[in-house]
Amino acid sequence: MNENDTVRQRLAVLRQQIDLHSHRYYVLDSPLLADSEYDALFQELLALESRHPELVTPDSPSQRVGGEPLAQFVQVAHRLPMLSLKNAFSPGEMADFERGLRDFLSLAGPLSYMAEPKLDGLAVELIYRDGVLAVGATRGDGLLGEEITANLRTIPAIPLRLKGNNLPPLLEVRGEAFLSRAGFARLNEQRAASGEPPFANPRNAAAGSLRQLDPKVAASRPLDFFCYGVADPAQVPCQRQSEALLYLAELGFKVSPLARPCAGMPEVTAHFAALGARRAEFDHDIDGMVVKVDAFDLQARLGNTARAPRWAIAWKFDPLQAATTLVDVKFGVGRTGAVTPVAILEPVALGGVTVRHASLHNQEEITRKGLLLGDRVLVQRAGDVIPEVVKPLINERRGDERPIVWPERCPSCDQPLARPEGEVISRCQNPRCPAQRVKALIHYVGKAGLDIETLGAKAVEQLHDLSLVRDLPDFYRLRPADLVGLEGWGERSAELAVEAIARSLKAPLSRFLAALGIRFVGEVTAQLLEERFGSLERLRQAGMEELLEVEGIGEQSARSISQYLADPQVAAMLDRLLELGLELRAAGRVGLPLAGLVFVFTGTLAGCSRDEAKNRVKALGGQVVSAVSKKVTHLVCGEEAGGKRKKASELGLTIIDEAEFSRLLAEAGGATAGRK
Ligand code: IVH
Repeated sequence: MNENDTVRQRLAVLRQQIDLHSHRYYVLDSPLLADSEYDALFQELLALESRHPELVTPDSPSQRVGGEPLAQFVQVAHRLPMLSLKNAFSPGEMADFERGLRDFLSLAGPLSYMAEPKLDGLAVELIYRDGVLAVGATRGDGLLGEEITANLRTIPAIPLRLKGNNLPPLLEVRGEAFLSRAGFARLNEQRAASGEPPFANPRNAAAGSLRQLDPKVAASRPLDFFCYGVADPAQVPCQRQSEALLYLAELGFKVSPLARPCAGMPEVTAHFAALGARRAEFDHDIDGMVVKVDAFDLQARLGNTARAPRWAIAWKFDPLQAATTLVDVKFGVGRTGAVTPVAILEPVALGGVTVRHASLHNQEEITRKGLLLGDRVLVQRAGDVIPEVVKPLINERRGDERPIVWPERCPSCDQPLARPEGEVISRCQNPRCPAQRVKALIHYVGKAGLDIETLGAKAVEQLHDLSLVRDLPDFYRLRPADLVGLEGWGERSAELAVEAIARSLKAPLSRFLAALGIRFVGEVTAQLLEERFGSLERLRQAGMEELLEVEGIGEQSARSISQYLADPQVAAMLDRLLELGLELRAAGRVGLPLAGLVFVFTGTLAGCSRDEAKNRVKALGGQVVSAVSKKVTHLVCGEEAGGKRKKASELGLTIIDEAEFSRLLAEAGGATAGRK
């Protein structure tokens, strides 16, 4: 067997294993491997493929990381139209639906149904040829959609290759791409942390993520996929929708566990009530239930109208909407200076709570919706999401409604607002703006920051207004006596708060960095910084160049971080925190055998690729950089090591050859590669 055959074979094994384990993890939610073991396989695949690009296949799991950006989307015609569904809103309308079926079929006997949750995401079609994902497209207008294959490939719940034998030569699968509520919340947190406007709801976030020309963006979003059917039942060896869903699950698709075969309308009704009652518990939004005649032969006899199949209907849950009056609009200033309008509403009951405020997002939204002060408006709540104003009820206007005037100056500090070209958000650019400062203090102690539980937003506002806390170090100067006697504080609560504040001095570095609220530095970036630099001191020494070397940190965040750290006021503030006992931990990395060591490679390694070597070092807690400097601890020399060796010996660094490097890894226990 020649070298290429060996590689080919190893690639096949790796791909099969990775497919198996990612199916266990993402589809079945029951992993067999530890993350690190899975990542070792993945890293090996990436390394091998980077040395043999000619052997990369479209169904390789490596293709999930997102390829090159597209210039534009291409339209594709659906071979069979992607129809929409007619809606029902009451048991009466469902009875009408069933009566219609019986009339059409001239059928008196029982009818069985498949009752599935109606997922609230984006409808997509996936075309598999000989078991391999060939094309993925949006629904579009039902006849023409957009080809978004590269983006869909990044969704771990979408198989790139189907499992099993006897696969149909052509399979057109349909389903819903969506974001879980947790995924949506995480995404919006990251966006808020990096100063980007939040998505209004999970559906918009899913749609926005899939309509990105750069697949790497889609890859970074926690998208999920449930499959709910096939375009053409003739493509599957099944007689009924319920069987087809089981078959699709066997092929490797994720099918909603909330789908139920129902022997008749009473069972459908019971399932609808059960889903409706548990709606808030699910980890993704559903807006109703899709009821489908189960038998494919009956579906074929029923056929379609122009827009929708006769054999299916969407039974919608009660909308979480109500009408009320828009009394006023207040403007808030966020931590990054972003000015956000908040609707003050006449209180209204909505899905079990009284709603008094609602989000208006930004100025463009207000203009787009054409809202006026005094309007009767439709408000809605979707799940746990903040209530929002949907639209004005134009027919109810009396003529005395007034325009909403957008402020030109900051409502907090009265400095002029700026709105950069092309952005939808106006910002206060005064770094000393009190509103921004309070929000920054609240962020610091809040959940996305150091999570100092005893200090809520109200307490921080109180301490700020009393000038007890104007800046981060002030928190650490608080004594119980400063708090006791203030409104809402007792001896015990004051002590607990001061203790909790003191404990936060020993927070993990990444949490502290996220807590600082540096623009474009959310949880993820903070974690990358912690992994790379390991300490605040090291990070403070890092320049633009070194920041840009960190994989996952782009130009924008790097600039923001280095500007932030270069600000003399920030430097003074950090110094004061250090004096007050700040002693951050580098969680995760400390304790790993190579923590604190910084490697540079030079020359060619004989035993493994440069990428493999790097990954092994990283997996063991070490860092790898490209340039020799005095921060480097080890230079690893392969064959034909060049000028780096000279520089390293001048700097007195440890210089080791490949054999010594292997020994070092073996001692550190690192025969395996590590997580991305
Ligand atoms: S069946 C021809 N099943 O609802 C049958 N659709 O108006 C049409 N949807 O955007 C699709 N969950 O993506 C079907 N379990 C489910 C569904 C479902 C959500 C969406 C679908 C489309 C809309 C149809």
